[in-house]
Amino acid sequence: MEKINSLTGMLDLISSKSEKSELANKIFLTEKYLKNIFQNYGMSEIRTPALEDTNLFKRSVGDASDIVNKELYSFNDKNDKNIVLRPEGTAGVIRAIIQKKIDLEAHKFWYMGPMWRYERPQKGRYRQFYQAGVEILGHHEGLPEFEMISLVCSINQYLQIEKPLVKINHLGDNKIKELYCEDLVKYLSPLKSKLDEKDQNRLKKNPLRILDSKSETTQNILKDAPKINNYISNSSKALLDEIIKTFSSECSIQIDSSLVRGLDYYTGFVFEAVSDDLGAQNAYLGGGRYDNLCSQLGGKNLPAIGMAIGLERLSTLVNAEEASNKLLSFIILSEKINPKAYKIAHDLRLLNENVKIDIQLSEGSLKSKLRRASKDNADYALILGDQELESETVIVKSLKESNSEQKSMTIDELNGFIPTIS
Ligand code: HAM
Repeated sequence: MEKINSLTGMLDLISSKSEKSELANKIFLTEKYLKNIFQNYGMSEIRTPALEDTNLFKRSVGDASDIVNKELYSFNDKNDKNIVLRPEGTAGVIRAIIQKKIDLEAHKFWYMGPMWRYERPQKGRYRQFYQAGVEILGHHEGLPEFEMISLVCSINQYLQIEKPLVKINHLGDNKIKELYCEDLVKYLSPLKSKLDEKDQNRLKKNPLRILDSKSETTQNILKDAPKINNYISNSSKALLDEIIKTFSSECSIQIDSSLVRGLDYYTGFVFEAVSDDLGAQNAYLGGGRYDNLCSQLGGKNLPAIGMAIGLERLSTLVNAEEASNKLLSFIILSEKINPKAYKIAHDLRLLNENVKIDIQLSEGSLKSKLRRASKDNADYALILGDQELESETVIVKSLKESNSEQKSMTIDELNGFIPTIS
């Protein structure tokens, strides 16, 4: 029969007991850390549907962006409504608060979940990928910018990311953005024939995006182009300087005037964190201020700032390790006694929530079960056969100390031993 495989660019994340460096293990660990950090910053969780009305992203991320133009997973449902697998989380969050009529209030939200973009898959770029995001709603420019960069630094520190670089920029308000775009187009138009096809298209549809073009020729041409920092206000410049002054002792942070971000909704402060260890797709998180999105989607005038972290990318950079909860492999040697053995394991699990007690369900000899326990990286094997059950004892074997003797413990002794494991 023909094999059925996963779709191109979509990963199965299967955790492994023995291979801690497995991407799935790293992603699950990263998620745990991030949830703690978000809670540490007083944020509340929000979960919105994976499927949304396609117009939501046309009106927010923008018709001219690559995400909407080329990468949407959109299709008609059985009722002929055009729907889409969300390519990002921000638009859904704003839609949800408008729908719930809480778009006049201040909120600090976090979320995590899969996103879909029909991109050409390569290292660090998938068609289904996971994002953790944060949106701070209801506050004008100022303190939330500091909160965002503080959060980025905390993520780098807690997860022990090596050599992260945080890039920040300011795009000004809508008027400044427009004026700057006009001047950029005026400068680039006579040089259009020298740009590659992609950048020529951007000149018409989304000129700002030319600034982060991957083409070397374009980058050379841009050296003499007008710079956004000559357009933004003094207070915007002061904000960038103040942020650098505050956080440069925490992580490496610099102004990058070519940082524009790929989504249309940004105004004002924008940022990205990159690492050279990631290769071509080097941004592991990005975000910025988007004060007009809520009103653009039919809601109130709600100032907002946010960011999203690409979990596949961030996870590969993580050096922090799982809190090492000890693993006890519970080996039952006779089928006949299973119910009683299960009850013993059940009672033991209640004694210490910080140890993992894994009952080996497969059949096999003691030797093969001990081999399995070692492969799973277990710290102890608890062995229970007919004889042990008869005498109300369990054999405890340490698997980490070489040449360690196995001990027979009474259930009472074991009840005393389990809570001492840490
Ligand atoms: P974004 O820059 O499009 O921003 O995505 C954020 C992060 O998601 C990227 O830095 C990258 O790490 C990851 N990412 C994006 N596309 C892929 C892909 N195809 N495969 C793997 N990882 C990917 C946003 O999505 C905005 N919603 C962020 C935001 C929130 N702005 C304000 N609030």
